[in-house]
Amino acid sequence: MSAPAGPFVTFEGGEGAGKTTQLRHLAGRLQRAGRPVVTTREPGGTEGAEAIRRLLLEGSGERWSPLAELYLFLAARTDHVERVIRPARACGAFVLCDRFHDSTRVYQGIAGGLGLELVDRLQEPALRGARPDLTILLDIDPAEGLRRRRSDGNASRFDARDLDFHRRVREGFLLLARREPERIHVFDATLPEAVLADEIWRLVSERFAPDRA
Ligand code: TYD
Repeated sequence: MSAPAGPFVTFEGGEGAGKTTQLRHLAGRLQRAGRPVVTTREPGGTEGAEAIRRLLLEGSGERWSPLAELYLFLAARTDHVERVIRPARACGAFVLCDRFHDSTRVYQGIAGGLGLELVDRLQEPALRGARPDLTILLDIDPAEGLRRRRSDGNASRFDARDLDFHRRVREGFLLLARREPERIHVFDATLPEAVLADEIWRLVSERFAPDRA
């Protein structure tokens, strides 16, 4: 008999919210609890998708039209879902992903102007049913997030967009969270790192009982 599919948890939020740091905390705790964990990120996670990531994040702000950009994100996702996410879940591993389909829904669909309906329709085949069981949304005022990001020297094409765009991103994520409160949990990203890590661990423990497996 095959193992039950491993839980799929995504981390979402605006720039500089601390997703990567919190993902690492959660991965460490799951490993200490003896659970197999696969950590990955989008855009990226496979050789081909990392090549697409470079096309997406480098260059000038207007390098791609909004629709061309959407297709690039979806091409990267298709490869990532097929080669990493589905196989890892099929083995029963916890899959933790730094950004996933909600980023596309928000950045391209809501803030980028393509519309949620079009993005949801076009990304359906890329997902092939790989929907997150739980999404950790780290919410931060974009002015503060961008300040953090610029001070760590990691700015990309998307960071260069104006504050208005990033405000729409924040509102977009909060809208999705209101629509799917069971899946998307909102955390205050300005809480101290260790406090936030404890809160996320509490939620994951309640949801999946990883320390009782
Ligand atoms: P990254 O450096 O990974 O940002 P962060 O550390 O904030 O996660 O760059 C990813 C950028 O790509 C980020 O600005 C959000 C954007 N993005 C989209 O616009 N659509 C998407 O579907 C994804 C996955 C990311």
